Amino acid sequence: MRVSKRLAELGNGVFARTDRAKLAYQQRGGDQPLIDLSLGSSDLPPPPDVLRSMAAAIEEPSSSAYCLEAGTAPFRHAVADWCQQRFAVSVDPDRHVQLLVGSQEGTAHLPLAVLDPGDRALHLDPCYPSHRGGLQLAGASRISLPLRSARNWEPDFEELSHGTWDQLKLFVLGYPHNPTARVGSQELLDAAMARGIRHQLVIAHDNPYVDLALEGEAPVLLRSPGWRDWGIEFFSFSKGWCLGGFRLAFAVGAEPLIQALRQVKAVVDFNQSLALQQGAIHALRHCSAWPSTLHPIYRERRDRVLSVLRARGWSIPTPDMALYLWLPLPERFQREGLDDEALADRLLRSSGVALTPGSGFGPAGRDWLRMALVRPADELEQAAHRLLEALR
Ligand SMILES: Cc1ncc(COP(=O)(O)O)c(C=O)c1O
Repeated sequence: MRVSKRLAELGNGVFARTDRAKLAYQQRGGDQPLIDLSLGSSDLPPPPDVLRSMAAAIEEPSSSAYCLEAGTAPFRHAVADWCQQRFAVSVDPDRHVQLLVGSQEGTAHLPLAVLDPGDRALHLDPCYPSHRGGLQLAGASRISLPLRSARNWEPDFEELSHGTWDQLKLFVLGYPHNPTARVGSQELLDAAMARGIRHQLVIAHDNPYVDLALEGEAPVLLRSPGWRDWGIEFFSFSKGWCLGGFRLAFAVGAEPLIQALRQVKAVVDFNQSLALQQGAIHALRHCSAWPSTLHPIYRERRDRVLSVLRARGWSIPTPDMALYLWLPLPERFQREGLDDEALADRLLRSSGVALTPGSGFGPAGRDWLRMALVRPADELEQAAHRLLEALR
């Protein structure tokens, strides 16, 4: 059967490819049990009260009904109050807030709401796959801004000419940054927002890790002057509240962008169940400190894995956000011309540890592997030892 041409450009996606490799490993009956560190899906529990409030609401008949936009008002009010408390930013719950089925969904749909086919749009390289994928689905003419370790994985806006900036309609970025595990800075976002105003382009900031900076403070677009005209920011319950499978997130942004996104979503979904929204409201109103309780856990995981890997001379930068390590390919393999996909595959086959090849996030990630710190510290240490053994 003939399928759309846009699928060829979209490709299969790094997570689907890694998933197939993991399945193959298990079907072959690999020597050691699989340790899956390829997905940023938290193994830590969500706040029990959040689950309880979802469970209590799930039996309400209204939770089984479709939820149109008017039904999401209590959720949007909780978001507005959270923005006020968390960032001291005043947000209109009706005009500036949109419930999402994951921030991935939001970043993937936004380009359909703001771009016409062929419009020019910018993303970072490497970046989270939905940033590029959303632009591809919308038929955008994409430009990528490469990130480099020498610049601490922050973009150099001067690499694009004034004329190119003028042509852009949308710039998608996100800090704390997945996969490079850098927190970024408020100056960086302020500079991006200033470009948005100067060149009249939408700045879309994906911020699911806002509460998971282990060093310093995560930047927030809502703190950058100008977001009410040209900005939109995406937040999620997946990482800080460990609710990834529940698919709960939200966007806060300029009114025309929120309205446009809402219009696209009206074709696609009827929002999340009221029961899930109830849990999300509880998380925002009563468990806003939960993400910070995860910091010591992620810090311990990070430090223990780093000390095992570094003890064998593997020079790995210390990530300043939770959840990921960004591992440079050992030089020996780079000299042999083995790329990240081939090395991730070899490591999975010989150690049973699944990592994500950096090139899955874009060509600039090609000499890197991403490890998600989503298992208890003892198991992560075991994974680190197995990797070292396999690399010998
Ligand atoms: C930058 C970034 N955006 C979005 C997502 C997906 O978040 P959600 O579960 O809210 O769709 C992830 C997940 O790893 C991510 O790293």
